Amino acid sequence: MRFSIAATAALLLTGNATLASEFERVPPVTHAATLKQCGECHMAYQPGLLPAASWTRIMDGLADHFGDKASLPPDVAADIRGYLTRNAGGGDGRLVRITDQRWWQRKHGFESTVWQRKTVGAKGNCEACHRTAAKGLYEDDWALLQTFAVGAR
Ligand code: HEC
Ligand code: HEC
Repeated sequence: MRFSIAATAALLLTGNATLASEFERVPPVTHAATLKQCGECHMAYQPGLLPAASWTRIMDGLADHFGDKASLPPDVAADIRGYLTRNAGGGDGRLVRITDQRWWQRKHGFESTVWQRKTVGAKGNCEACHRTAAKGLYEDDWALLQTFAVGAR
């Protein structure tokens, strides 16, 4: 089944609204070092999108960060780690990816070709579909996705 407005509507109706509503908005990143160091290669993800244990794993593994070297001076890393863990959300702390979290997968069960589109590129490219993602606002997706589903194929 290709990704379509009908499929999205079905998804909206069957999705678990209670869990999702917790995530429609997450507080934006307000920490300068996190914005700078963690916003270099991708959007600086909001701390509320992962539990503290996941952030700890990520900060422990910066030397090999998904194949990239993202190491930081110890004091900067400690500062960022503190900010992320203090403001962390819920989820499965064994998983380091937001996009592997169960709540995320429930909301993004699209056909696999969606992720290969040039306009998307990767699941972690939140801003491809949520234009206000950098502000922690994910509730606008319905209107956006209509554009996305029709316009970008
Ligand atoms: C040198 C570039 C680079 C820097 C700097 C960087 N990242 Fe990443 N990050 C990546 C890459 C590459 C991926 C994996 C992209 C993919 O495979 O989808 C990634 C993925 C992630 C993911 C998982 C996204 C998902 O798919 O759910 C998180 C979370 C993350 N980074 C957090 C951070 C944090 C926190 C920092 C700052 C301490 C940071 N990143 C700095 C390159 C970087
Ligand atoms: C290919 C487009 C696409 C990408 C990329 C994408 N999303 Fe989504 N996202 C959607 C759609 C469509 C929905 C609505 C699904 C639904 O409500 O059932 C959604 C829903 C959400 C919701 C729930 C909002 C609500 O109103 O319930 C959150 C939170 C969210 N996405 C976060 C993210 C994050 C964080 C990323 C990046 C790590 C991301 N999304 C990447 C398309 C995308």
